[in-house]
Amino acid sequence: MTLYSNRFSRSLDPLAAMLNNSLPFDQRLALEDVTGSLAWASAIAQAGVLDDHELVVITQGLTQIFQEFEEGHFEFREADEDIHTAVERRLGELIGATAGKLHTGRSRNDQVATDFRLWLLSTCQSLQGHLHHLQATLVARAEKDMGIVMPGYTHFQQAQPILLSHWWLSHFWALQRDQDRLDHLRQELAVMPLGCGALAGTALPIDRFQLARDLGFRSPAPNSLDAVADRDFAAEFLFWAAMTGIHLSRLAEALILYSTHEYGFLTLADAYSTGSSLMPQKKNPDPLELTRGKAGSLIGRLTGLLTLLKGLPSAYDKDLQEDKLPVFEAVDTLALLLPVMAGVLSTLTIHPDRMRQAIDSQVLATDMADYLVRKGVPFRSAHGAVAQAVRRAETLGVKLKDLPLEEWQAIHPDFQTDLFLVFDVEQGIARRSAWGGTSPEQVTEQIRLAKSLLPG
Ligand code: ARG
Repeated sequence: MTLYSNRFSRSLDPLAAMLNNSLPFDQRLALEDVTGSLAWASAIAQAGVLDDHELVVITQGLTQIFQEFEEGHFEFREADEDIHTAVERRLGELIGATAGKLHTGRSRNDQVATDFRLWLLSTCQSLQGHLHHLQATLVARAEKDMGIVMPGYTHFQQAQPILLSHWWLSHFWALQRDQDRLDHLRQELAVMPLGCGALAGTALPIDRFQLARDLGFRSPAPNSLDAVADRDFAAEFLFWAAMTGIHLSRLAEALILYSTHEYGFLTLADAYSTGSSLMPQKKNPDPLELTRGKAGSLIGRLTGLLTLLKGLPSAYDKDLQEDKLPVFEAVDTLALLLPVMAGVLSTLTIHPDRMRQAIDSQVLATDMADYLVRKGVPFRSAHGAVAQAVRRAETLGVKLKDLPLEEWQAIHPDFQTDLFLVFDVEQGIARRSAWGGTSPEQVTEQIRLAKSLLPG
């Protein structure tokens, strides 16, 4: 028996039923479904649909169902199509015919949109906790590794020396934007579809503002047609998930490279490495590779949902049932990736000597141009002079810092003996001291700012 079986002469084909049923995945909305129904029962009681006794009976039944879900002994039946029908069926078993009054003025269309928003609201909060933990790990690394220098890259070529702490913090700020996106999304999520009925609104005198407050929403949705069809929040969530996945993937990619024999900048802890079944010496960064790989699936889920939404006409269409799986999968993926990345970061070992040795003195070429600029030479000419010196050093087969003074002076008369002081890496870093730069004082300031954004 389905909720609508009186309308049809025979039941749904078994395979069509399998296609139709969303219970295998939407049972994750169980607690939110019961919470929404508890508030709905109060609202329709106030509207005169339930008398005091009926409200008490329905509330007691729903409370018991809530407990059954929480304690894990709710029993689903083969005929339960989705979580909403399962709850209503169980309520009938517990309290009899009065259960049939609960769905008055409501549709599964406004119900499912409400459940999904409630579920995502609390899920976003726990994901923000995971994000904060990873951000705190990055700040802790930045503090611990303060003073360690490394080559900074653009185009994946050495560009300028930087502090390792500055590099760690660059990843903190990307995650901070992910935090901000979730803050914004939580505002969007807090708009309530309940009371919009199937599409046209409800004919009962429901106080939707009161109902919204009861359920912890900011306000009721202002248009019933839009409210049952709106899945912008799910798409925005999947964009958040894809973007966060990309941030983790970029960090993972760099760590994989820096842990290779060729770089040797760091070693991953055994707890976050795997071996090879064939090559006894291998230590593979599988958790980081999987982080990189799963970012691809996260992007796919966003594209999938956007494609699902693009052709839907007004109000609810059954396609919308497919909105939940990608969101659930993205949540599970990130609830795993974020803490794993925090574990990788807090346990890896840095090799400061290898980082320093890797810095080619050519990375101070910009500083050499700045040296001439300080002597009044226009930057473009200074850039040209240093470029000549770089080429000359290459021709002679020496490092830039070993190019003799006569060679420098043959290129530009303003080069003096003090030019060799420019080859001090620490000083090169300390000179980048404007707001946001890599100098130790600015990085210390960044750490202070970053910490102020973390909870207690
Ligand atoms: N299981 C459905 C979903 O997840 C609930 C809404 C069904 N609405 C309907 N008109 N058939 O979307």
